[in-house]
Amino acid sequence: MDALYRDYILDHYKNPRNFGELDPHDLEWHDHNPLCGDELGVHIVVKDGRVADLRFHGQGCAISQAAASITSEELIGLPVEEVAGLDADWVIDQLGIEISPTRRKCALLGLKVMRGATTGDASWPE
Ligand code: FES
Repeated sequence: MDALYRDYILDHYKNPRNFGELDPHDLEWHDHNPLCGDELGVHIVVKDGRVADLRFHGQGCAISQAAASITSEELIGLPVEEVAGLDADWVIDQLGIEISPTRRKCALLGLKVMRGATTGDASWPE
């Protein structure tokens, strides 16, 4: 793994952005990775059709927490309807590292819950 990207992932893991809860919130979702049992939840505030604020909470491995942190930064400010168009490749691009098949759900759990909250789609991003 490239050192720069490793540091980037570790920084998001150790200092997750937008971690916590929002009350009140307009949208929420909660899900888990069936391979390990780790869970993530998300609260979202919507204003003028955009993700105005977002917080995620829960626990998981470094990849899942870093990916959720990075994804949360990208989603804030985005039109809610555009979240449905984000897919697995988009997440992997944001991470900038190779993700093995066994860690794929770790990387995608954050987008899964954020997409679930905004679209009601409970499927895994593909
Ligand atoms: Fe549980 Fe990665 S090992 S989310």
